[in-house]
Amino acid sequence: MRIVVLGAPGAGKGTHCRRISDRYRVVHLSSGDILRRERAEGTDLGKKVQSYMDAGTLVPDDLIVQMMSNAIQKAGSVGYVLDGFPRTVNQAQSLDASLAGAQDGIDIVVNLEVGDGVVLDRITGRRSCPKCGAVYHVRNMPPKKDSLCDLDGTKLVQRPDDTEDVVRNRLATYDQQTEPVVEYYKSKRTVHDIDANESADTVAAVIFGRLDALAGRAGRHPRQ
Ligand code: AP5
Ligand code: MG
Repeated sequence: MRIVVLGAPGAGKGTHCRRISDRYRVVHLSSGDILRRERAEGTDLGKKVQSYMDAGTLVPDDLIVQMMSNAIQKAGSVGYVLDGFPRTVNQAQSLDASLAGAQDGIDIVVNLEVGDGVVLDRITGRRSCPKCGAVYHVRNMPPKKDSLCDLDGTKLVQRPDDTEDVVRNRLATYDQQTEPVVEYYKSKRTVHDIDANESADTVAAVIFGRLDALAGRAGRHPRQ
């Protein structure tokens, strides 16, 4: 299964891609998480992308396309769910070109639709685990123990790009550069628009409803 999940900042891409990865046993490839790992490790790539991420603008396409091609190759035949990539029409075209001919095209595109007001509340309340990337929300999805990751006990942090000013920039960047990706896919195939304003469990149930049939065809039995 090769799945693309699109959506504005705070739409729930990370939250739902994690659940999709668990349920259908596919690799979760989040461009944002990979970039944050590169930064934490102080790699050349990490240093190059820092200023873009902190300003809420996009990292140049050539760096991202190279990074994600490597990640997709590493995922191998297990399948994957792409979170945060592609994010420009140029990236989407590069992805299509790299998958063309190998019978390895994208199987399904899911688009999480959410209002700007909801996004601000979600992002300012988000806390993430710097070790495993698990995502929580102070009210909507709090950890069991205050400020600690349920999975590995690491102290949760707030992302440096989650301030109100940077979030506004990220939303503007999304409108200008990523919304056209939704149109790009719609011109070529079915895109599954999902109302992501609802609770996470409600949204997950709708997504799973769309993916279960595909999983059946791929011979995967979803974990319940
Ligand atoms: P990235 O890390 O991808 O950030 P983003 O797109 O802004 O998205 P977020 O991670 O903020 O939101 P999300 O949709 O994952 O929501 P989440 O599930 O966490 O990218 C960061 C930066 O990296 C970019 O700005 C750019 O600089 C660079 N970059 C990355 N990819 C790139 C690319 N392809 N090209 C160029 N540059 C790139 O949920 C948010 C919160 O809401 C959480 O607290 C969660 O618990 C809560 N929540 C989720 N769903 C619900 C729900 N249904 N109800 C209630 N609460 C919910
Ligand atoms: Mg995310």
